[in-house]
Amino acid sequence: MATSEKSRGNWNSKLGFILAAAGSAVGLGNIWGFPSQVADNGGAAFIVIYLLCCLIIGLPVMIAELAVGRYSKKNPVGAFRSVSSSWFAPLIGFWGVICGVMILSFYLVVAGWTAGYVFEEIFFFMGYPELASWFGQLDNGLKNAIFSVLFMLATIAIITGGVSNGIEKATKLLMPLLIFILGMMILYVLTLEGSAEGVRVYLRPDFSSINTDLVFSAMGQAFFSLSLGMGALITYGSYLSKKQNLVESATYVTLADVGIAFMAGFLIIPAMYVAQSSGVQIFDADGNLFASTTLVFNVLPEMFHNMGGIGLIAGVMFFVLLGMAALTSTISLLEVPVAYMIDEHNVSRKQAAWSIGGLIMFFAVIVSFYIGLIDLLVVIFNNIGLPLGGLMICVVVGYLWKTESALKEISHGFENVENTWFAPLWSFFIKVICPLVIGLVFISTIYNIFN
Ligand code: PHE
Repeated sequence: MATSEKSRGNWNSKLGFILAAAGSAVGLGNIWGFPSQVADNGGAAFIVIYLLCCLIIGLPVMIAELAVGRYSKKNPVGAFRSVSSSWFAPLIGFWGVICGVMILSFYLVVAGWTAGYVFEEIFFFMGYPELASWFGQLDNGLKNAIFSVLFMLATIAIITGGVSNGIEKATKLLMPLLIFILGMMILYVLTLEGSAEGVRVYLRPDFSSINTDLVFSAMGQAFFSLSLGMGALITYGSYLSKKQNLVESATYVTLADVGIAFMAGFLIIPAMYVAQSSGVQIFDADGNLFASTTLVFNVLPEMFHNMGGIGLIAGVMFFVLLGMAALTSTISLLEVPVAYMIDEHNVSRKQAAWSIGGLIMFFAVIVSFYIGLIDLLVVIFNNIGLPLGGLMICVVVGYLWKTESALKEISHGFENVENTWFAPLWSFFIKVICPLVIGLVFISTIYNIFN
């Protein structure tokens, strides 16, 4: 084996791990993905299904991933090998590594948009509108490529520094700041004309709009936002100490992630309607969103620009924080293939980060020039890839490793868990409910496509 126990690294503290895992979860998925999906899927009904997916499927799967990771102390490929002797178990881990690489390829481009908008805001308020609008161009391939490469370089720099330095420290400060600025902006947006309509759309569910497509998107969004299904939390779990209570940690991370997504929706959806009432076109004649991928970036800067001087501070702070939230997620996305290379292919952390990072940078440059690819990659690797990974994780933990063994791992840090109500409930979810629901959603989606 390439690495000894001590060179793998560890989280420094209990809170440190929760923050790092929450840092992985909270990112563009919450502030870019969630509100666009809500808007795309007709509002509040999506939120209800999304919340159910997070609690019924996401939380149990998260606990399973952490248990597998901490038990095996390995990357996803090695981790599945150590909990099951079946030939296909490591392939599940490998699928996760591929999803990580491909998701990061488009994630970097969106993260690059965020970084670009920091400059857009600065130049706008300094009175250079042309320069500002260059930085705000979402379809400028060269600009996208430059920013996504810069973003990747920052990610690689942190990854080569190891797991606890950097990741832990950065999140401790950034998360509360992000919540604060989101809160302030929500208060502000609610004072603007048109926002009431947005709040209504956001909070009043129209259950008749629930269909297979909506459930499929909500499930994919839940997996993406909670960083599940590709082994990111197996990898983070592999740096965990036996003292940590996995159930408690997973619950905190889920709540933080869902809470921040909900807040972001409270900002973006009303802001959409504010923009609309000031003449920006959001919907086409059929009532469909113009472009959900770029929605957040079309709506928010418009609002900052109309805020006067304070808009400069709010805009810059918002995009800096969003960029930071994206960075703590790109770190966890890159950490999966890097841990795989270190454990399985005997290379140093530095070599792994640069080689895999370089490959992903190359993909990101391609996506930079063809941003239409983002939608396609989201469907394949996010909406299909992650829940599929989650389904397979449930099968391995439930039937090959067995939930009894997993519960034994969970009992470190959660004494006597075997004798609590949690044990049978969680086992039932991992063995039956989660695979069944994910499977049914897949089958009905496929059925729908062919009918
Ligand atoms: N959860 C991250 C976000 O919401 C994205 C992510 C997905 C990170 C999968 C790691 C693994 O932005």
